[in-house]
Amino acid sequence: MINQEMKKAVLDSFKKVYGDNDEVKAYFAPGRVNLIGEHTDYNGGHVFPCALTIGTYGAAAKRDDRKLRFYSVNQDRLGVIESSLDDLNPSDKAGWTNYPKGVVWAFEKRGMKLDKGFDLVISGNIPNGSGLSSSASLEVLTGFILRDLYGFEVSNQDLALIGQYSENNFNGCNCGIMDQFAVAMGKDDNAIFLDTSDLSFEYAPIKLDGAKIIIANTNKKHKLTDSQYNARRSMCEKALAIFQNKLDIKGLGDLTIEEFEANKGLLTDPDMQKKAKHAVYENQRAIEAVKALKAGDIEHFGKLMRQSHESLRDDYDVTGVELDTLAEEAWKIPGVIGSRMTGGGFGGCTVSIVRDDAIENFKKTVGENYRKKIGYDATFYTVEIGGGPEVI
Ligand code: GLA
Repeated sequence: MINQEMKKAVLDSFKKVYGDNDEVKAYFAPGRVNLIGEHTDYNGGHVFPCALTIGTYGAAAKRDDRKLRFYSVNQDRLGVIESSLDDLNPSDKAGWTNYPKGVVWAFEKRGMKLDKGFDLVISGNIPNGSGLSSSASLEVLTGFILRDLYGFEVSNQDLALIGQYSENNFNGCNCGIMDQFAVAMGKDDNAIFLDTSDLSFEYAPIKLDGAKIIIANTNKKHKLTDSQYNARRSMCEKALAIFQNKLDIKGLGDLTIEEFEANKGLLTDPDMQKKAKHAVYENQRAIEAVKALKAGDIEHFGKLMRQSHESLRDDYDVTGVELDTLAEEAWKIPGVIGSRMTGGGFGGCTVSIVRDDAIENFKKTVGENYRKKIGYDATFYTVEIGGGPEVI
């Protein structure tokens, strides 16, 4: 569902910043929310995200020289940030433009060289720093624009892989494939049940009769996400290497709960054991949750969401008082089917499934108790599941 005002704003802004250009086209790529299967995607496990109708809008046109010019409506005080195809290196000074630049760099790494530069304006309606994948959205948007402007032959799945590659190798976050995949492969009203061990996936329709998906943003300001995230990932890799001395597995996601329990003694560091436990149990929870959903058992899906949060809180240690407060307060409200943190954690958002007649009370009560405990407001959004990137 394209927001016509956002589209107009990004095109008007393009004209204002770069002048008239008959060739300019407008584009959209969604944000995403993960329903269950957290911190499993770099462990060869399953995830269950969906694309949202909020996301990143872009207006772009090719240039006649090798310049790259970027402008963000959300960060207009930064003005136009200029670069060139001859300077595809990350730098602090480049700020947010490191994401689109990284994608150009990753295209070139794959042999898809740009003959000319481009002018780009972006404008997003994903709340900033919310963990709803504004960076993956921008990466996939950029890849989609490059494909359209330069005629590269590259599938949407490849756009996801290129986005992840650029984030890992140009922007220094060792993220898994979930976010970029959800953004690039989104489908209206469907979540994506993805097996990250081989990228096989299926769409699962989300029909919430009489309930909605509500996102609650902690609005937590300072996040150390990248370094903590990379630390969790390397801990899981170490645990895997220890298991591999005995077991023939490619990722922690290959382990059943029984296999994990029988072999967990190999991990003598208790902290490492807890982290690996989360990866194994969360993967099995994601599989079970999708089964429950298909069987129409939304209540069970909701219980698994709660268990997911508890595991992320107690074993994986990526929640923090803000996310815990939002989830724990939500669990107390009648009509809340399930609630959990979503995304990398340490801040960002929770995702909740709430019955229509409970939404008002949910927002009011959780909101008040959050403010009392944390000292500032959370923000609530009712979201809809949208499709993948498109020319608009
Ligand atoms: C971030 C990463 C994803 C995934 C989640 C946790 O969003 O970008 O790859 O690992 O955290 O599930």
